[in-house]
Amino acid sequence: MNTIKSVKGRRVWDSRGNPTVEVDVTLETGVTGRGIAPAGASRGTREAIDLRDGGNKLRGKDVQRALASVNNIIAPAIIGREVADQVGIDAAILALDPSPLKDSLGGNATVATSIAVLHAAAAAAQKPLWRHIADAYARVPSIPLPEIQIFGGGAHAGRRVDIQDFMIMVPGAGSFEEVMEVTNEVYFAAGDIMAQKGRLAGVADEGGWWPVFDSNEEALETLVAAIEKAGEKPGERVTISLDVAASEFGKNGKYRLALEDRSMDSGALIDMLGGWLDAYPIASIEDPVGEDDPEGMKEFTRRFGDRVQIIGDDYLVTNKTLVEEAAAAGACNAVLIKVNQAGTISESIDTFFAAEKAGFTSVVSARSGETEDVTISHLATGLGAGQLKVGSFTRSERMAKWNECLRIQDMLGPAAFVGGAPLASTWWG
Ligand code: PGA
Ligand code: ZN
Repeated sequence: MNTIKSVKGRRVWDSRGNPTVEVDVTLETGVTGRGIAPAGASRGTREAIDLRDGGNKLRGKDVQRALASVNNIIAPAIIGREVADQVGIDAAILALDPSPLKDSLGGNATVATSIAVLHAAAAAAQKPLWRHIADAYARVPSIPLPEIQIFGGGAHAGRRVDIQDFMIMVPGAGSFEEVMEVTNEVYFAAGDIMAQKGRLAGVADEGGWWPVFDSNEEALETLVAAIEKAGEKPGERVTISLDVAASEFGKNGKYRLALEDRSMDSGALIDMLGGWLDAYPIASIEDPVGEDDPEGMKEFTRRFGDRVQIIGDDYLVTNKTLVEEAAAAGACNAVLIKVNQAGTISESIDTFFAAEKAGFTSVVSARSGETEDVTISHLATGLGAGQLKVGSFTRSERMAKWNECLRIQDMLGPAAFVGGAPLASTWWG
């Protein structure tokens, strides 16, 4: 038996300099596991909440209440349990706070604990985390295809452009190494082009360039130019991926592109994005309409679902029921898996399985507020999820995840890289 002896929460700091929750789980044998809660900025309204203290100190963002949840409420409920029983432990945590958004314990408290338990179980089994996950859930591990941000926007770049993430994917790469090399070339080509044109203002929250564009489409044009400057033909080895994050600029089917001083209804937004799908080699698009616009999401999926991956992030918030409902309604064909949206590892994995059953692809994802925690690289690999979204190609809270995939690749061998297979039914495929 590898029973849990202690659970200790402490305050650490995330990539935006905000407080966050770290949890250490120690077993009777002395083996330990650690998890750190990430934090979103463009959060879905239906995701598990980050419990923060409010008030003036640390801009209201301190996490003493969440730490109290870990140390005083969760710890006594899971000490003495067998650490390999992730499902049972997560269920015990949920029983302490059955509210849908985990507002009494805090999703930051539950997720950091759940991740720490997972790491401790892997350590007890003397397995790398990806292997522990693959064995525990009977999966064939594979190295995911990355989505990597080149420009930030939306809530991650002072709303300098309305669209949140302009990313590339390299589905034509033969190895994870090759994805890293191509991304390096495109990232710096984009920076050079922007600097030359006076369009570069710095680096956004996830490490992508902070742009000074006059329109959202200028970002797409610049991205295509950067792919070409890197010696690639857009749409061949390299494709574009967008996170529109439309909930950030729209409510009740009305959208406002502040950069272009344009307002539009859901139908006009869908037409505009459809025009982009025709004009640019876009293989994946996330949250094309708002989380409160199911009719828009159904319409977008009906029109474009056979040629582009349509990911629900704010729209699905890693929620199994929402994935099942969306699949039944024909809204989206892919889900973003963010462990802290669900609040526990078990709920996230349940959502992943529900998505797979529905024929959705899955993209395991970081948040815009991140840390040195690299669990998601292992989760994506261990589940064989197919895709991983971490932000850009600078800043160590991002690079740590890409670098971890390189280390895992060394253990698994280059043949384990899935390449473009997850996008087989899209524009690129
Ligand atoms: P967030 O953004 O972590 O700020 O919510 C990431 C995303 O929308 O994918
Ligand atoms: Zn998103």
